[in-house]
Amino acid sequence: MSYREIYQASLDDPEAFWMQAAEAIDWDRKPSRALHEQGDNLYEWYADGMVNGCHNAVDRHVGNGRGDQAAIIYDSPVTGTKSSLTYRELQSHVASLAGALVAQGVSKGDRVIIYMPMVPEALEAMLACARIGAVHSVVFGGFASNELAVRIDDCAPKAIIAASCGLEPGRIVKYKPLLDSAIEQAAHKPDVCIILQREQETADLIEGRDLDWHAAQEGVTPADCVPVEGNHPAYILYTSGTTGAPKGVIRPTAGHLVALHWTMKNIYDVDPGDVFWAASDVGWVVGHSYICYGPLVHGNTTVVFEGKPVGTPDAGTFWRVISEHNVRSFFTAPTAIRAVKREDPKGLEREKYDLSCLRALYLAGERADPDTIEWAQKILDVPVYDHWWQTETGWTIAGNPAGCEAMPVKIGSPTVAMPGYDVQILDEAGHPVAAGDLGAIAVRLPLPPGTLPTLWNATDRFRKSYLTTFPGYYETGDAGMIDEDGYLYIMARTDDVINVAGHRLSTGAMEEVLAGHPDVAECAVVGVSDDLKGQAPLGLVCLTTGVNRPHEEITTECVKLVREKIGPVAAFKNALVVERLPKTRSGKILRATVVKIADNQDFKMPATIDDPAILDEIRDALRTIGYAQG
Ligand code: COA
Ligand code: AMP
Repeated sequence: MSYREIYQASLDDPEAFWMQAAEAIDWDRKPSRALHEQGDNLYEWYADGMVNGCHNAVDRHVGNGRGDQAAIIYDSPVTGTKSSLTYRELQSHVASLAGALVAQGVSKGDRVIIYMPMVPEALEAMLACARIGAVHSVVFGGFASNELAVRIDDCAPKAIIAASCGLEPGRIVKYKPLLDSAIEQAAHKPDVCIILQREQETADLIEGRDLDWHAAQEGVTPADCVPVEGNHPAYILYTSGTTGAPKGVIRPTAGHLVALHWTMKNIYDVDPGDVFWAASDVGWVVGHSYICYGPLVHGNTTVVFEGKPVGTPDAGTFWRVISEHNVRSFFTAPTAIRAVKREDPKGLEREKYDLSCLRALYLAGERADPDTIEWAQKILDVPVYDHWWQTETGWTIAGNPAGCEAMPVKIGSPTVAMPGYDVQILDEAGHPVAAGDLGAIAVRLPLPPGTLPTLWNATDRFRKSYLTTFPGYYETGDAGMIDEDGYLYIMARTDDVINVAGHRLSTGAMEEVLAGHPDVAECAVVGVSDDLKGQAPLGLVCLTTGVNRPHEEITTECVKLVREKIGPVAAFKNALVVERLPKTRSGKILRATVVKIADNQDFKMPATIDDPAILDEIRDALRTIGYAQG
């Protein structure tokens, strides 16, 4: 079938389409139907089926003759380690860790936070939870303890699985003190912490609460897979919203297994047994879907890469890994390719490796700029597919269905809507606009399987964030257009979320931190353009009357505060003291106008601006730190 036939079938008869797709996974009890309407625009998929995520990702492959195939290849230039784990070994490790969790009283429905770097044990921890029906929530290592504490309080984990440290180029990130501090700050306390001691930094264990990873597994009975309902949460993944409080996106078990399985061939064009590599981190949705579950559910070999695109040790690392491990499809963020391009513009490193195994490069996580795509096309000589999705959806909303029918690439477009996503461009009143016109990107409900049914403990927030603006639709928070050929273009966010090096961050959260500085009366954080990271946060702060300390002292403290409260991942390096913030007459801060001034772009004077003269003051101030040039 052609892409258009498949897509149309998914919209005309979603029930038949998704029941057929569901045949690809193993069920303990097949669902009686696919879609379950909960009323009031809430939907679930496969709710009355019984299934286990770990069985589908691991055990069934051992049963089907893939036991000796590599499930995980670990390649860690930061530690100088390479190893691989077969499906059979993975099954044994996971069953044993799951047994340790059971021995600690963790059972179906209990939450488990995972705070680990890019090591195979992070995947083992996720799968061990899935094995017993526990709900994992992985927290990215680049977040500070305060962010970890917020997540501990929101999902109230019974256990936390962590590593003693992570390794960033040139420094060891000691996870354990961050974890201890987070638990101290949180009102909720986990019963137990299981700690993987890494040789680069062993942590002190707290008696009565902390257990060593290996000791916790000694003498325990390996756990079997526990079937769970199709709508049982596989995991909670926190993502940034408009306010400081992160949103706990729920991933339903059956939907994500079915949808991810479908994508592996149809989008990523890999067959079981092929090596698939997503160079991301388990802390992000890409890591959940395409380092862990997707490739494993499909019987692929997944690569766990602990390193950076450059500097570990050079800009040829990606190409080495692809060549050495026979990677067929490679997925990363445009920012990573920009980093490589900046260091090795002529692609000399790439010349050192035989990349004949590679069939395509997939980019997502942020806008893929034409320069980056063209450079990658040139040096790799394979198709470069941009695709667009979100933590909320867990898989591609718009992409190139290369495995069923590769569509011509139009640079600047992530291509076309994937099955089940009825993507519409709406005007402010919620009416579809003409082809080529800009508007808010919305998806007609229901969303397909694997997408979020609601937010953890926050259905009201779910409705308010996604379902209220355009009744009957899911509001993506992105703006863009669809052209005459049905190709989608993503132009900008419609909210205060920014995208820094493919990481989704909330300017609202950073503003909350800055507002906590004793000398700051008012502030605004905006995302200005950054050649490498796409966007970079910039803070404008107004001081409390009477404060007359040197501005540089205060801005340095602001930078430190954001790093301490949110974490290094925020990459908040620039703060600027200004007299006043530009606002509308109703008091709304004109953030988009500040961005345009900083980026030296043309802008229309907002009709509702309170005092236009402030914009000149802001421009002058921005120039002092290198913005608004030209
Ligand atoms: N644990 C602790 N700290 C971390 C971390 C982790 N897992 N990941 C990043 N950090 C820290 C970094 O060390 C850095 O700290 P610094 O301010 O002390 O230098 C900070 O967070 C910002 O990190 P990063 O965004 O990685 O920037 P960078 O300048 O170190 O590297 C790139 C730039 C482009 C190489 C890097 O951003 C990159 O690899 N991006 C790809 C992003 C990606 O895969 N996104 C997933 C979506 S698909
Ligand atoms: P996250 O939830 O972290 O995956 O971030 C999702 C957001 O990143 C989207 O809503 C977009 O704003 C942005 N994004 C992701 N992929 C793309 C893409 N291919 N093109 C443009 N923006 C993207």
